[in-house]
Amino acid sequence: MLSILTYILLVTPSSLSTSYSDFLALLSIKSHITSDPRQALSSWDGALNDTNTPVPDFCQWNGVTCGGRRYPGHVTAINLQGYGLSGIISQDIGNLTYLHFLDLSSNNLVGDIPSTLGNCRKLYTMNLSANHFSSSIPSPLGHLSKLKIFDVGYNNLTGEIPTILLNITTLTILRIEWNSFSGQIHSWLSNLTSLTDLFLASNNFSGNIPAALFNFSSMDVLNLGFNQLAGSLPPDIGFKLPRLSVLGTEVNKFRGVIPASLSNASQLTYLVLRENQYHGVIPRDIGSHSKLNLFSVGYNKLQATKPTEWDFLTSLSNCSKLEILDLEGNKFAGFLPISIANLSLELNWLTLGRNQIAGTPSWIIRFHKLTQLILADNLFTGTLPEDIGRLSSLQYLDLSQNRFEGQIPQSLGNITQLTSLSLSNNFLDSSIPTSLGNLTQIEILDLSGNMLRGQIPQEILTISSLTKLLNLSTNSLSGTIPTQIGHLNSLGTIDLSLNKLAGEIPQAIENCVQLLSLYLQGNLLQGQIPRGLNSLGVLEKLDLSSNNLTGPIPEFLGSIITLNYLNLSFNNLSGPVPDTGVFCNSTILSVTGNSMLCGGPQFLHLPTCPSIRSHKASRNRLHIFIFCAIGTLIFCLCSIALYCFINRMITPNFVGREYLFLNRNHERVSYAELHEATKSFSPANLIGSGSSGKVYIGNLILDKNLATVAIKVLNLEQQGAKRSFLAECNVLKRIRHRKLVKVITVCSGMDPNGDEFKALVLEYICNGNLDEWLHPNTMTDGMISRRLSLMRRLHIALDVAEALDYLHYHIDPPIVHCDIKPSNILLDDNFAAHVTDFGLAKIMQSEACKKNHPEIEGSSFAVNGTIGYVPPEYGSGSDVSMAGDIYSYGVLLLEMFTGRRPTDSFNDGAENLVSYVKEAYPNNLLEILDVTATYSRDIDIQNIIDILIYPIFRLALACCHDSPKQRMKMHKVVEELNAIKRHAVQMF
Ligand SMILES: *[C@@H]1O[C@H](CO)[C@@H](O)[C@H](O)[C@H]1NC(C)=O
Ligand SMILES: *[C@@H]1O[C@H](CO)[C@@H](O)[C@H](O)[C@H]1NC(C)=O
Repeated sequence: MLSILTYILLVTPSSLSTSYSDFLALLSIKSHITSDPRQALSSWDGALNDTNTPVPDFCQWNGVTCGGRRYPGHVTAINLQGYGLSGIISQDIGNLTYLHFLDLSSNNLVGDIPSTLGNCRKLYTMNLSANHFSSSIPSPLGHLSKLKIFDVGYNNLTGEIPTILLNITTLTILRIEWNSFSGQIHSWLSNLTSLTDLFLASNNFSGNIPAALFNFSSMDVLNLGFNQLAGSLPPDIGFKLPRLSVLGTEVNKFRGVIPASLSNASQLTYLVLRENQYHGVIPRDIGSHSKLNLFSVGYNKLQATKPTEWDFLTSLSNCSKLEILDLEGNKFAGFLPISIANLSLELNWLTLGRNQIAGTPSWIIRFHKLTQLILADNLFTGTLPEDIGRLSSLQYLDLSQNRFEGQIPQSLGNITQLTSLSLSNNFLDSSIPTSLGNLTQIEILDLSGNMLRGQIPQEILTISSLTKLLNLSTNSLSGTIPTQIGHLNSLGTIDLSLNKLAGEIPQAIENCVQLLSLYLQGNLLQGQIPRGLNSLGVLEKLDLSSNNLTGPIPEFLGSIITLNYLNLSFNNLSGPVPDTGVFCNSTILSVTGNSMLCGGPQFLHLPTCPSIRSHKASRNRLHIFIFCAIGTLIFCLCSIALYCFINRMITPNFVGREYLFLNRNHERVSYAELHEATKSFSPANLIGSGSSGKVYIGNLILDKNLATVAIKVLNLEQQGAKRSFLAECNVLKRIRHRKLVKVITVCSGMDPNGDEFKALVLEYICNGNLDEWLHPNTMTDGMISRRLSLMRRLHIALDVAEALDYLHYHIDPPIVHCDIKPSNILLDDNFAAHVTDFGLAKIMQSEACKKNHPEIEGSSFAVNGTIGYVPPEYGSGSDVSMAGDIYSYGVLLLEMFTGRRPTDSFNDGAENLVSYVKEAYPNNLLEILDVTATYSRDIDIQNIIDILIYPIFRLALACCHDSPKQRMKMHKVVEELNAIKRHAVQMF
């Protein structure tokens, strides 16, 4: 009655009959969205002048549906799926009491799920999946007694499932996968008798799986993967859950046998039991119902030794849709039944690795659609099929650790999609076919541990997609190392050890600037250690032992600070051993077996060199101490990195069916992954662009989480872009500070047109850059008023100063950023600042190195920076320096507090921002203060000037001093800002 009355009161007779309170709620929802990259809410328009003006017809707004005849003028559905919206959900959403359907999935929403949603009693679908919601599920949602579909998967939710939620007996789909829910599953599900789809995967649920879960006769999807659940599948599961189509228990602690009754579940499509402790024999009729598409039981303790125990494979040949068959890492042994050749020709992934299967797998040629074939670590014998090249879809081929013999087939070169090829540890004894040079997508090529003969074909050294590994170790390769090795400028590891390679190490090795590991030990190499190694600025492991190298040990090896393993033993090296860097840690260095060495650190016990300069000795000891300290630190960091890396390697991924192999070697991402993550680099995902490239937002699976990342694609046409990419990689690799944007990984390869493609995957900082906040565009920023308070500005200034202080004084060698400006300062949802864009950054040591070796770093690495922020001395050709960053920082401060860009034109005769401020300083500061900077009106403005404005401008001008020497140092800036902040906090 009351609602009819308000309805009549609020809506003028002639107007559209839309609800005023729904309208207010929608406006409130819009006002809490901070970024709407695809203009999803641009039609959500209207401000009420007074209650007599008609309410706009919001039923026409994008994503809004009204109730038609039944609930006229009331919002009954909101669908804003996948618009990239940022911000939070307004609590006022709970005023939409007629809401039946809510889908906000696949956005970038943060914060809590509003508890007021519990007021929307008519809701039957709530989909909030794939956002960044955190904290726990609010218990008022338990009042939604009509809810059928509840989907909050792929968020950051924690806590236990509120028990009240489990009284919603209408629930059919409960999807909470990919969060961090914990606790036991117990019997908490027992009321949800209507449940058909239960997605609990990838949380922290533990304990035994309750038997009650297997009593839901209408269950269709049961996905329990990636938890710590224990227990076993009931023997009669196939009779109790006859409609099951998906059963996932991967990566848990399930035991017992695979129940034979599963063959009764005639709809079973996905059966994923990988990485548990199931044992015994696979039921012989498992494939008798032909729907199976994915059969994955890898890494259990399953067995097949007698021929009859292989019968399941014969039954799987009924499954005409089988695409994935995964038996890896079990105790399958003996010969495969011939029925393997009858498996579905749709077979896409076949993984039989790490078993003891014997025989000659000539049947593989049948399966033309294979993209992944892993037979590694078995007892397969015979020669590789000559026409293996017919498997033209293969991307991942691993035949390593078997007993294959004979030739490497020429036709392998036809499989141009291959990204990873391993034939290692077999008995192959041909030469390396030059056709492998056609594998233009290959990232990993491992032919080690065979008996390969002949020379290294130069063709395989010019494959620019080789980014991860080239391993030809432990063969009988002869000849010299081709100079084409210098083309491998994106490769991480080269291993040519234990062959019969002769001649000198080519100087061209200097171009392999991404090398992390270089193994050339156990060959017949001669000549000196090449100077070119000095360019390998990220090298971590170098082994040149057991060759015939002569001449001195170059000093520069001691200053490659990333080096944590160096083996030069058993050569004919002579002269002094350096005593810096890697040379002062006995556990990571070996120089034994070189009879003519002298000097070096004490622990080597070498004779002193003939003409040592004694007056330097004490200084050297200090150096040794410092370098050892750094060495140890680096060693620790590398160990941590290695530990993290290994952890990543053994942490499996799972999304849909792409999961099985994602964890292999994903330290770098591929073009294809980025292409997908950014929806084909769609304009809708574009969040920034400039001369150096474009930045996209995308969703990538990283470390088993779907993460939102920023992807910076370099414009390689821009001069110096590759240098800039390398500079950025080199810088970002070394730094780790919460006020600096993290680089997650890099991509360096080809796009499908064969053009070079380089991209950085960066942490996504959600709140835009400082430039957008200081100079809001009234056209695009619409009704959201973007204003930064004075205090917020002060905090941002302090964050940036801390980041620069870190770069200048807390890492060795220091880094100069060279391009400090508002658009390179990103703000997160707490308005904390993160400094980004190291494309111009310089490592101070490479400067020093450039002076010593001008030929190494040509002059093309010119400094530019951004007009307005570049210090005056750069214009007159001065070297890049920390003082330059301080000048730019000073300009930034001035801009932040005046709201004027340094490139604005200033009347009053001021030629730039600095002189504009100087003219007003110190008496007229209020006149130049940014009018959009908000502050509490309760405080006397004179106090604000005295305590905040005046000291800030004083500080900024001290940073902008014309003479670089006179500028305030960054640690001093941090100190001063902290003092200003302390005073200001007391005032506000
Ligand atoms: C939503 O309802 C609450 C409680 O009735 C009220 O205080 C609030 O102002 C409403 N919000 C809007 C935007 O109308
Ligand atoms: C508010 O009033 C102004 C001026 O009368 C008018 O132009 C505008 O359309 C009104 N807004 C709404 C939403 O009615």
